[in-house]
Amino acid sequence: MTVETTTTGSSALDRDRIKELTEREQTAFEQRTQASREHFERARKAMPSGVPSSFQANDPWPVYVERGAGTAVWDVDGNEYVDFHNGFGVMCIGHANPIVGAAVKARVDLGTHFAAPTEGSITVAEELQRRFALPQWRFTNSGTESTMDAVHLARGATGRDMILKIEGSYHGHHDAVMVSVYPPIEELGERDDPRSVPYGAGYPRALTELTRAVPFNDAEALERVLAKLEGRVAGLIMEPAMMNINIIPPVDGYLERVRELTFAHGVKLIFDEVKTGATISAGGATRRFGVTPDVITLAKATCGGYPGGAIGMTAELAELVASGRVHQYGTFNGNPLVMAAAQATLTEVLTEDAYAKLEATNAKLLDRCREVIDRYALPAYGEGLGAKGCVIFSPQPLREYRDYLTEVDAELSTLAWLYHMNRGIFMTPGVEEEWTLSIAHNDDDLDRYVGAFEEFARDVTA
Ligand SMILES: Cc1ncc(COP(=O)(O)O)c(C=O)c1O
Repeated sequence: MTVETTTTGSSALDRDRIKELTEREQTAFEQRTQASREHFERARKAMPSGVPSSFQANDPWPVYVERGAGTAVWDVDGNEYVDFHNGFGVMCIGHANPIVGAAVKARVDLGTHFAAPTEGSITVAEELQRRFALPQWRFTNSGTESTMDAVHLARGATGRDMILKIEGSYHGHHDAVMVSVYPPIEELGERDDPRSVPYGAGYPRALTELTRAVPFNDAEALERVLAKLEGRVAGLIMEPAMMNINIIPPVDGYLERVRELTFAHGVKLIFDEVKTGATISAGGATRRFGVTPDVITLAKATCGGYPGGAIGMTAELAELVASGRVHQYGTFNGNPLVMAAAQATLTEVLTEDAYAKLEATNAKLLDRCREVIDRYALPAYGEGLGAKGCVIFSPQPLREYRDYLTEVDAELSTLAWLYHMNRGIFMTPGVEEEWTLSIAHNDDDLDRYVGAFEEFARDVTA
């Protein structure tokens, strides 16, 4: 996710100073990425905005990457960076991981696609069963496909049409969830009854109306909406910890209450663990927070840098798929190459020890960022879970999307991004993302990150 939201928070820091530093850093960025500019000029003649996915677009041009190894990436200008972007939270195994590389290379020589099940898919499904508390699994090719299948399952199981989602969450780009993703402030509607705001054009209004948003971290609001829509809601899809508007963890007791309420109203609970699933514990948020949904959707880090996803489900929902009542399809589902990568990633690289290391490295980085925030009295705080973390430029902790929209200082976030990029820290552009660590990150990498952050903090408060 990137560059698509604009928040309106404005901290007490000197705005002229922020503007002046942004202009200086923007010029430096443009000067050091001239080969990217040339790639962009060529690419835009063949791809809208010069990128394969709009989330890769950036102003004035994207940084085109040449290669990566461990925590390092090199762009087409030859600039070397320590990667904290990690492919939007995919590369927890580090770039060009030799174990995953060997598994994929071995599979290449045995044939890469049959559209018939191979043993790899059984092994990966068994591993997901072991990690997460759900008994049955299917494969997809992306997070979007996983959440689309999840919505079909909820509707198929209940015979109802409406879907609830959390205001300000992104679940991929299919019709049912491209609603109230980043609604602008003037379109929000009442907090207890948010409007269904389509995220862009191309979605039939009738479908948009079938998806309603509720605020995160507010079980009482959910309870009221469920009572109002009694008998009409098929499923609630949610990230157990929000990760597309920086990171917002669930408050104590919230997920437990959501589980009780969804049970009570016959609503299928879908945890979208595309971001959290393979990054915040071996069993994702489900294990970390101890609440089991009816459906779990996975993708991103699960397949170690290959385009795959998965969907976990209860035995009751699996029966709908097995009986053919709900269709779960895909030519490339369970592709042997992707399964080889997923198997090596999950069973050999992202082990329990690896999660302990990711957690410890993240804690160290967060502590060091918090120390800088305190020393320079920045209007910001550090937040993190597992491999994921961020500095949020808001004076107080966010609990939901409306806080994010009104509190986060977008200009400060953009300036921090420029400081990092110009000092060899590869970060996701935009206000809403977080860093993702890999098992390869070490103290030197953290030193570089904190060094750039401190320079930013010193300059912006000077
Ligand atoms: C929580 C969440 N769900 C679903 C998706 C969609 O995944 P994909 O981009 O693989 O389709 C994303 C992508 O960022 C995501 O963050």
